[in-house]
Amino acid sequence: MRERLEALKAEALEELAQVTNQQQLNEMRIKYLGKKGPITEVLRGMGALSAEERPVIGQVANDVRAAIEAVIESKQAEYEKAETEMRLRAETIDVTLPGRPAAAGAAHPISKVIQQIEDIFIGMGYTVAEGPEVEQDYYNFEALNLPKNHPARDMQDSFYITDEILMRTHTSPVQVRTMEKKRGQVPVKIICPGRVYRRDDDDATHSHMFTQIEGLVIDRNIRMSDLKGTLLQFVQELFGKQTQIRMRPSFFPFTEPSAEVDVTCAMCGGKGCRVCKQTGWLEILGSGMVHPRVLEMAGYDPEEYSGFAFGLGVERIAMLKYDIEDIRHFYTNDLRFLKQFAHL
Ligand code: DAH
Repeated sequence: MRERLEALKAEALEELAQVTNQQQLNEMRIKYLGKKGPITEVLRGMGALSAEERPVIGQVANDVRAAIEAVIESKQAEYEKAETEMRLRAETIDVTLPGRPAAAGAAHPISKVIQQIEDIFIGMGYTVAEGPEVEQDYYNFEALNLPKNHPARDMQDSFYITDEILMRTHTSPVQVRTMEKKRGQVPVKIICPGRVYRRDDDDATHSHMFTQIEGLVIDRNIRMSDLKGTLLQFVQELFGKQTQIRMRPSFFPFTEPSAEVDVTCAMCGGKGCRVCKQTGWLEILGSGMVHPRVLEMAGYDPEEYSGFAFGLGVERIAMLKYDIEDIRHFYTNDLRFLKQFAHL
């Protein structure tokens, strides 16, 4: 029996010496150390031995087993180490390689101009209000003193969704919504930036969708001079201290009196050029004193309160400020165009 065990050991060690990979090693483990392996078999035959022989052979069997086990374990450790090394090598990061810069975006020029205008008015104590782009006929027209059948409500000018719901054609409905929310309290002092929609044929200066900023101030004793002073302050902050304004009589159903406001042309300083069509002036917004009927419908007594309002087109302001010749640039989103304004 001792010879058989020794022979087994020699055979196993020789075979193990040929092993070159993990799979073969697993097979060897099963073959020599498994429940059906030759050592187990030898041990099973121990019953036939004498009482003196039994512990001696048992010891030999254990030694053989331990010797085979030791070789298997050392090979196992070798393979594990090799595998770890391989993994580490594969996962090595070269921290000295130059990085791949992430392409950074920038806010859209219209967003930036809105931000600049907001900052100016916030500096004058205004808060920023918002309203829905899908609007009720009542807020878009009726409550602004544009009764049914008014020409400005023409189906040709507005995107109607139903008879009573449309895409807002201006940001003025937010005036009404704000006053309703304030429930007759003063002061009201807001600006409202947002998108507006009109059925227009798009060209260099017209777009079916554009951006407006509405302004509204309601309090006691608000006068036309407050409007003029506010707008002068605004344009001088936006276009520069040298900028002047002029107000021309105009008409809007929601203001009385109404005025269109021009600024001195920033391109030529008022001397006359291509941009201002040789007039020296550029129209930038509509404004006026809030119509008494508009105040009344929104719950403000026109005998006690008065206010001014104005509405300007953000694209037009951006085009003047940055000498952009076509409004469609803002929507076609050509990166070569947008990148020029990334630094603003
Ligand atoms: N809502 C007008 C428009 O879209 C602009 C405007 C004019 C707004 C006069 C006003 C205003 O608040 O007082 O053309």
